[in-house]
Amino acid sequence: MEGVAAVSTEKTKDIDYVEVCAEDELWDGEMDAFDVGDHEILLVHFGQQYFAYDGLCPHQSVALVDGELTEDGLIICGAHQWQFRADNGKGVNPANECLQAFPVKVENGRVYVGTEPE
Ligand code: FES
Repeated sequence: MEGVAAVSTEKTKDIDYVEVCAEDELWDGEMDAFDVGDHEILLVHFGQQYFAYDGLCPHQSVALVDGELTEDGLIICGAHQWQFRADNGKGVNPANECLQAFPVKVENGRVYVGTEPE
């Protein structure tokens, strides 16, 4: 049997980040929309963390920023009340839907969002 060398295929994807706001511009429990590259992004500050998702609801592309972020961490679309978890974008109702997540990083008090989805 020929030997097969173990080769790591893990690559770090080069991601461009866009600065969207200062940390203190979006309080914990708030969400807001920003244009990042070709995407409208919903930036969510919840549980002392930031999360970024495609800002358009997967149901009928209504802007999620016009919905609600609840105290227990649900993003609720204002159009037909679809619900998603703020901390991972997974659908709660309906459960088979999911928000497209974008990478987020915080550096020196500024929040940056990646221009491509995770
Ligand atoms: S557009 Fe969001 S629930 Fe219908």
